[in-house]
Order: sequence, then structure tokens, then C-alpha cells
Amino acid sequence: MRVCLTGGAGYIGSHILVGLLEDGHDVLVVDNFANSSPKSLDQVRIITRSSFEVLDQDICNSGVLSEALSSFRPDIVIHCAGLKAVGESQEQPLRYYRTNVEGSISLLEAMDQAGCQRIIFSSSATVYGTPRYLPYDEAHPVAPVNVYGRTKAMIEDIITDWAATDPGRSAALLRYFNPVGAHESGEIGEDPKGIPNNLVPYIADVATGMRTELSIFGNDYDTRDGTGVRDYIHITDLADGHIAAMAFLEGNQGVETFNLGAGEGSSVLEVVKAFSRASNQSISYVIKPRRDGDVSESVANSSKANDVLAWKADRTLEAMCADVWRWRSRYPRGFDG
Ligand SMILES: NC(=O)c1ccc[n+]([C@@H]2O[C@H](COP(=O)([O-])OP(=O)(O)OC[C@H]3O[C@@H](n4cnc5c(N)ncnc54)[C@H](O)[C@@H]3O)[C@@H](O)[C@H]2O)c1
Repeated sequence: MRVCLTGGAGYIGSHILVGLLEDGHDVLVVDNFANSSPKSLDQVRIITRSSFEVLDQDICNSGVLSEALSSFRPDIVIHCAGLKAVGESQEQPLRYYRTNVEGSISLLEAMDQAGCQRIIFSSSATVYGTPRYLPYDEAHPVAPVNVYGRTKAMIEDIITDWAATDPGRSAALLRYFNPVGAHESGEIGEDPKGIPNNLVPYIADVATGMRTELSIFGNDYDTRDGTGVRDYIHITDLADGHIAAMAFLEGNQGVETFNLGAGEGSSVLEVVKAFSRASNQSISYVIKPRRDGDVSESVANSSKANDVLAWKADRTLEAMCADVWRWRSRYPRGFDG
């Protein structure tokens, strides 16, 4: 198939790109490298020994995007481009609405021009907000508690309304839980700019000696060991979920929402211990007070994706940590180090 992959140079996009190329698809990556390095694409070429097209453009640039899609004529778009830092979204809401929401509208318009009727969207478990019950299933109310989550919920609505206007259109809205890990080759992985927002990249910074200690926010939650519990999913399992969603959309119309998670949670301390074992390094940490807005637990019910997409996240936390350690041992400072 001909696939347009926005955000293909980013953490999740680059792993999806490997999967697409390994399956023999023709790919056009659209990315302005706002939060990624073109070197990730070079590494993908090395891993897969395949080539693909790259458009270095902002997705908000609708004229250029329309031209590019009309000339590439994708069968499907996988839309990963966007801004994703919750704290930053609260400080710069307009930038987040412009990039995420306006960028998605511009993309859908370009798809219309190009006659492309299928889209897979990178949504997030953040759309659920404070859990009314756990594990979250797709029927859980959507009530995001931050700007980032609201952009994702809005885009889900926009795609749903877009799809409703033509019976030939279809969409899969994939709500990711916490992607962790790296490609097993150790050649690509998560490369956050500045201070990592996510737990595992921060732990990896401590393990490589780039930071002295990890701050754990709260050890008095009602969980197994008092620290927060999250559903971690191996990045390769997440990428495979997109390939499964592509196959599903080939035979189905309309819009479907799927949680992509492992279906079980790990506490912060369990992740620290698993990473310590995988890296053979001790990870210093300090307990700090809880942070506003953090929930004690967030775990997916992924049975819909398991049943309908015939997909399951089965790589373990140990594998996630071992793969991150391999990547960070080779590239301690990421793509630029
Ligand atoms: N990583 C997570 O924990 C997580 C969880 C849930 C959902 N998501 C979503 O998955 C998607 C991918 O996340 P990621 O972790 O790979 O993030 P990432 O920042 O590594 O990748 C996003 C990519 O989009 C590109 N981009 C940003 N703005 C752009 C623009 N205006 N035009 C073109 N390209 C642009 C960036 O340069 C980057 O390569 C995002 O939409 C994110 O919100 C991520």
C-alpha cells in the first residue's frame, strides 16, 4: 500500500516506519523535525535497507501538504505528527491547538484533495482524564484534564465528523497508553530534547550518569508499593498495532476507537528495579510529594484491540528495559551524540 506517515521521524513514527518498510509498503514521511532528528530516518534506512520519500514540512502548511499528497496518492495516512508534552501544553495552549488541531484539519483537507479516505490517528489515554473506573475501556467517558488531552479529544471528534460525511471513509483512533522501549537493533529509540517528561528516558539518563537521581512523585498512593501505576507498552508492539489497524481498515468502513496498552500496570518502583536489572546499574532516586494532576493508576482494557484487530502487546517490561538500555548504551546522547 501507499502510506503517508506524518511524524515519521519521531519516537513512535520511526518504529512504525520500520514495520511498514519491512512489510513492503511505499511510504511518504511528512515531518518538520520540530521534535526529532533526520538521523532517525537514516537509521531506519540502515535497519530496513529500504528507501522512502520525505517531505520536510509543517503539517499546518496546507498548500504544500495538498500538493504532496495529490502527487503521492496515499491509500492511507497514519497521523503521528504533533506536540505531546502535557506541561508545555498548559503553558502554550495556542501552539498546541494550532499544531495538533489545525494541523489535523489541514491534513484531512489534503487527504480530500488527494482522494485518500483512510486515516489512523495517534490518540492518547490522556483523553480519559481522571478514571471513573479501571481498567479504562473505550466506553469510559472522555474528559481530558489538560490542553494536550483536549487537543486529542477534539481531533478524534473532527475525524469522526469527517468520516461521517462519506460512507467510503474510515478511521482508527488509537489511544496509546505508555510506549516504552526501542527497536531490538538498538539503532532507534526515544530521544527527548531537554529534560525527559517520561519515566523510562529519565531512568536511562540516571543509568548513563547524565542525571544524578530520579524524582519519584508520591509513594503514598493506594497501589502495591505506594508509587503510581501505569500501563507500559513496548514500542514495537505499539507499531505492530498500526499494521493490524491498517489491515482492519482495508475491510471495514466507519470509525473505530481502540486502546493500545498491555492491559497490566507496573509501579514506578517496579520499573526502576526492572531497569536496574536490565542495565546492571543502580538507579538513585528520591521520593518527592505527589504532583497535581497525577492519578494513582492508569491501565488499559485492550480486549477490543485483542479481539477485533487480532493484536496483543506481549513484550515484557524486562524486554522494554533491555531494549532501551541497548539503544542508550550505543547512543548515550541520542541521535546527536
Ligand atoms: N510517546 C507517548 O507517550 C505518546 C502517548 C500517547 C500518544 N502519543 C502521540 O503519538 C504521536 C507521536 O508521539 P511520539 O512520542 O513519537 O512524539 P515525537 O515528538 O517523538 O514525534 C512527533 C513527530 O511529529 C513531528 N512534528 C511535530 N509538529 C509537527 C508539525 N507541525 N509538522 C510536521 N511534523 C511535526 C516531530 O518533529 C516529531 O518527529 C503524537 O501525536 C503523540 O501525541 C504519544
